[in-house]
Parts: sequence; C-alpha cells; structure tokens
Amino acid sequence: MNHISMCVNGTAYDDEVEPRLLLVHYLRERLGLTGTSIGCDTGHCGACTLDLDGVSVKSCSVLAVQADGCAVTTVEGLARDGAWHPLQRSFHEQHALQCGYCTPGMLMAARDLLRHHPDPEPDEVRHALKGNLCRCTGYQNIVRAVLAAAAGQKAAEERAARTGQACT
Ligand code: FES
Ligand code: FES
Repeated sequence: MNHISMCVNGTAYDDEVEPRLLLVHYLRERLGLTGTSIGCDTGHCGACTLDLDGVSVKSCSVLAVQADGCAVTTVEGLARDGAWHPLQRSFHEQHALQCGYCTPGMLMAARDLLRHHPDPEPDEVRHALKGNLCRCTGYQNIVRAVLAAAAGQKAAEERAARTGQACT
C-alpha cells in the first residue's frame, strides 16, 4: 500500500491505496465523488476528464499515486455556494445534455479550454472537445453552450471594466 495525500475540490484527503488503483476509481469508490463518469476505462471517451494541478487529464489514465500531493478539481467542484458554474448554466440553457453521461467530462474539458482561451471560435471548441465522446450525439448544442458561456464571460468582463468592478 502507498500513502497518498491530495486536495480534492478544496478538501484535503490522506489515504492508503494500492499502487494499481486508478485516480477515477479512487475518487468514485473511496471518496464517493461519483460525478466523474467512467465510459471506457481506456482513455478514449473523455467521460472521466478532470483537472489535476491545472492540467486537464483523463483520470482513467492516471494512477491515484501519481496524484499524490496534487490539487484535483472534479465536476463536483464547479458549483460555488450553491450557484452553478457558468458552463453548467449554459449547458442547461442550451440543452447541451441528453442522458448526461458525457456531461461531467465535457464540462471539465470546456472549462480547461475557456481558462486558456476565453474567446474561442466554434472550430476551436470542436477541436478542444475532440477527445470527449457523446453517445447521444448532442455535439451541436454542446459547442453552442461552450460558446454561450464564453460570450457571457466576455460580457461580464466588459461590464466590470466599464464599472471598474472586479469580475467574479
Ligand atoms: S473513462 Fe476515461 S477516457 Fe473513457
Ligand atoms: S448526453 Fe448522453 S452521452 Fe452525451
């Protein structure tokens, strides 16, 4: 067994894990954070995407011991004080989910895109989400939702700049 410690969605955890345990299984089975989906377990579908120390990763391709000492953000960490993250709100408003199985991974991949590229073109959104599969094939609305969230963020920043207030 190996000792690991990590900060998940702002909470510190210490555990003993087998070296072969995957990060996605650690989060789901040990911590009860079942928001991160498992679609393929082979790094192809993107359902298990999350943020590991600021890098978007597929958590079925990462061992829990590799996340030792890291900060992890899962889909459960997106909402703040009961308020949805702008991307969650946008997915809801743009009908960007059907069964919802791919949605956590889509949200986390989209969040990573907008953090690095806050004003993407449609093709850039498609490119950024190419590692995330939706079996319900709702891709058009997913792209629309990401673009709407980006536009909302841009509008908020412009408003803040006009009024001299910090953007929250
Ligand atoms: S479950 Fe990780 S990429 Fe499919
Ligand atoms: S909404 Fe069903 S897999 Fe994407």
